[in-house]
Amino acid sequence: MKVSLKKAIELLQNDHVVAVPTETVYGLAACLHSKKAIKQIFFLKKRPADNPLIVHVSCLEDIFALVKNVPPQLAAISRLWPGSLTVVLEARQNKIPDEVRAGSDFVAVRIPKHPLLLQLIKEVGPLAAPSANLSGKPSATSYQHVEDDFGESFPVLDGGSCQKGVESTIIFLTKKSWQVLRLGSLSVRKIQKYLGDLPQEKTTTTMTVPGQKYRHYAPNAHLVLAERQKINSTKKTKSTFDAVIGFDDTTTTLPLLSLGKRNAFASNLKRLYQTLRQVDAKNYHQVVVDISFDKKDLGLTLYERLERASTK
Ligand code: TXA
Ligand code: MG
Repeated sequence: MKVSLKKAIELLQNDHVVAVPTETVYGLAACLHSKKAIKQIFFLKKRPADNPLIVHVSCLEDIFALVKNVPPQLAAISRLWPGSLTVVLEARQNKIPDEVRAGSDFVAVRIPKHPLLLQLIKEVGPLAAPSANLSGKPSATSYQHVEDDFGESFPVLDGGSCQKGVESTIIFLTKKSWQVLRLGSLSVRKIQKYLGDLPQEKTTTTMTVPGQKYRHYAPNAHLVLAERQKINSTKKTKSTFDAVIGFDDTTTTLPLLSLGKRNAFASNLKRLYQTLRQVDAKNYHQVVVDISFDKKDLGLTLYERLERASTK
């Protein structure tokens, strides 16, 4: 059910959960200090309790109030905010409920780039929010997707379809190093422009993203990844598969769900989750995915999401 900004404020202030738009994907939001609403998020999503939530704020001052021992490099990287960057930092534990951090000493924070959401945060304070989808399913990139997962009476602040369509890029930042924890819609190259002089220590840090161990982004249908030549040529394809997820130039006699122009990653990512959701809406059981594209930077994000979506 669409709700106005005023209603969303009222609901959040009264310990309810509201789905909110961000530039990446829709979020299932609760006021940071509402224990009741935070608990409800885990229940609604069927989310394991060991999977922490990102805290969404509207400005850097809010971040400084939530974290400690801030690495000086945050100043440089913060120029990418508002935007699809999430940074894991040392938490001021008394400022962030244990459930939000899933007991960790660290917290993930971001300043999202959506005017309606920023306005909402300014009114109600920081919001803890995971993506607004049932655990394991493709994230929601429109008001309709949220309703499909949580029902017509669930309150959604409609902010249109998400500009990026895929989650934020998560990094772990310390004084000595930085590390990409989850690929996302912000290019790692852009992050490197600001943090490039720091060693990217993959081996020495033990930080992980708890959510990455769970099955993700997957439709009910079985997805099989294949190079484009294989899709074009085999007879087997025709008998085994109901459809193809590919690009405008993918050749096939099967129904084609196109992610747009090949190697146009920003628009491919924008279409990704809505396409994965379409597969289920059309009741397809077996779908072959064209993975002949450049697997670098945002192309690697696309490949990583497809690979996870195809894992049973
Ligand atoms: O774009 C996004 O990031 C969206 C929008 C709504 O902001 N949010 C999102 O949230 O994707 P979620 O919960 O679906 O994914 C967040 C990931 C999870 O895998 C979680 O384990 C990880 O971030 N995470 C959250 N807090 C963390 C922390 N303190 N330390 C390490 N990983 C953390
Ligand atoms: Mg998610």
